[in-house]
Amino acid sequence: MKNNDLQLGVIGSGGRGGHLARIAHNPGKGARVVACCDINPGTLARNRTEFGRDVFTTHDIEALLNRPLDAVIIGTPDFLHEDQAIAALQHGLAIYLEKPMALTTAACDRILATAKRHRARLYVGHNMRHMAFVKKMKELIDAGAIGEVKACWCRHFVGHGGDFYFRDWHAERRYTTSLLLQKAAHDIDVIHWLCGGYSRVVNALGALTLYGDLPGRKPPVKGPRHINLQGVKFDEYPPATLRGLNHRIDVEDLSSMQMQLDNGVFATYAQCHYTPDYWRNYTFIGTEGRLENFGNGEPGTHLKLWHHRSNYQAKGDRNYKIPMEKGSHGGADPKILAEFLHYARHGGHTATSPLAARESIAAGCAATDSLRAGGKVQHVPAPQPALVRWFAQGGA
Ligand SMILES: NC(=O)c1ccc[n+]([C@@H]2O[C@H](COP(=O)([O-])OP(=O)(O)OC[C@H]3O[C@@H](n4cnc5c(N)ncnc54)[C@H](O)[C@@H]3O)[C@@H](O)[C@H]2O)c1
Repeated sequence: MKNNDLQLGVIGSGGRGGHLARIAHNPGKGARVVACCDINPGTLARNRTEFGRDVFTTHDIEALLNRPLDAVIIGTPDFLHEDQAIAALQHGLAIYLEKPMALTTAACDRILATAKRHRARLYVGHNMRHMAFVKKMKELIDAGAIGEVKACWCRHFVGHGGDFYFRDWHAERRYTTSLLLQKAAHDIDVIHWLCGGYSRVVNALGALTLYGDLPGRKPPVKGPRHINLQGVKFDEYPPATLRGLNHRIDVEDLSSMQMQLDNGVFATYAQCHYTPDYWRNYTFIGTEGRLENFGNGEPGTHLKLWHHRSNYQAKGDRNYKIPMEKGSHGGADPKILAEFLHYARHGGHTATSPLAARESIAAGCAATDSLRAGGKVQHVPAPQPALVRWFAQGGA
């Protein structure tokens, strides 16, 4: 730790990783990006202007990990998370690993086991846990505002789905498993967190219902396609007008899953990648009321709570305004990075949890298996008790 700044490395220093790195980089104020690894030379050139000419840049992850670092941000695509996280943890580094933690449940368990074995600090980037509307819902539920939670229904309108998930590697199973993992990992985690349990039984239905038929695909490439969304206009509608999608699309664009949690709560989650609007709507139903969000942090975001019988009652019995917060993802990105940097330095309790991140993948993987087996019920494997104990105590 030079000048008391955490020395940060970034793997995948373009897209999401680059964004996180720019937020974290505060020389003299706690953290400095000193090394970047990316396969794109243009990104590395940009990193040298963003983080100073002395920043170490490389396309070789081992070269980065051999630098004197305190912590690493891993912002590469999903299919690289397992190997890169394990490599960094084996160096004993604290890591911020983007969600989804990995492509399979077994891969998540290998990451957890490596963190435990090397006593390294593992942090998974579930930034929704730092969104103001999610935190307020959690606070109200924990305070008993709707009694004992029995059910959750989440509708996920992925308005930019075609642009964000069907133009590049996201569209291929081999790189994401499914969008129930890649996209829903956030929501499954929120459902688990607010309902106070983990899914142990799931089933799902879904299909590729729109994007699979669109013409004007990009020519095939060997390996994963990476794109730069800068310059893409997000106003094309209806979605059937989209062109230039990935040459191969084998993930579903419409899906829904049901979950039975280990505490008896029942949850449903539905995802559509071609709605005109882009947001998530959660309803939590308890023994003494119902809580629902309207908006995800944009101006006007609020929660409504009902605890009297009525017919349609638009205003709700209570209304909670959610203030707009500064920073990307409704202010969650600066907050999650601040939490990670504190954790990398001191360890201790965090709002996010590597074990919970694993459980969201386990539920998403089982739901994907169910969906691809025509809706057959699947049991979600629980993690090993030794791992549960280690991470429940806060890990390293
Ligand atoms: N938590 C969130 O809100 C949030 C938001 C966006 C993305 N993400 C996650 O971030 C991750 C990255 O997403 P993205 O859209 O930025 O992906 P991307 O395709 O833009 O890739 C990110 C970077 O990784 C680099 N890269 C690719 N292969 C590499 C390799 N082998 N070694 C080093 N660098 C490599 C790319 O060149 C790029 O700069 C995904 O796992 C995604 O789920 C999370």
